[in-house]
Amino acid sequence: LTHNNLFSKPAVLGQTMTVVGIPELDCPKFEINFGSDEFTIALHFNPRFNADGDHNTVVCNSFQDFKWGEEVKVGSFPFRQGQEFTVIIDFTPTKFVITLSDGSTINFPNRIGAKEYSVINVRGKVSLISLQIK
Ligand code: GAL
Repeated sequence: LTHNNLFSKPAVLGQTMTVVGIPELDCPKFEINFGSDEFTIALHFNPRFNADGDHNTVVCNSFQDFKWGEEVKVGSFPFRQGQEFTVIIDFTPTKFVITLSDGSTINFPNRIGAKEYSVINVRGKVSLISLQIK
């Protein structure tokens, strides 16, 4: 399931995106991306249940100049297949602050440095329950 260009308007600095969803029972990983175009991703937020050599790990990264940047992996993993999650992404001037269902936060720098991102998508086997940006 690919949810591409979820919003008709770009996400701008100062906005908050809230995603509520349920990973399918056979979901190995899913991702939420904020990018300027298909080839430039400022935030790749990628919970992995069992994928790419990782188990129950959240991986964040950016993609530019046709390559991935340095991965940020954090300890908390409040995701379960078949169970509802809420992810809140605050787009601040210098970083993305991502709050997970257990209240823990991940800080990921805005390496691309743009003030707005128009390519926002959710990819993977996830049923989206609600999605808002404001
Ligand atoms: C790769 C994976 C990509 C992306 C990237 C993040 O191993 O294939 O989909 O998640 O890691 O660093």
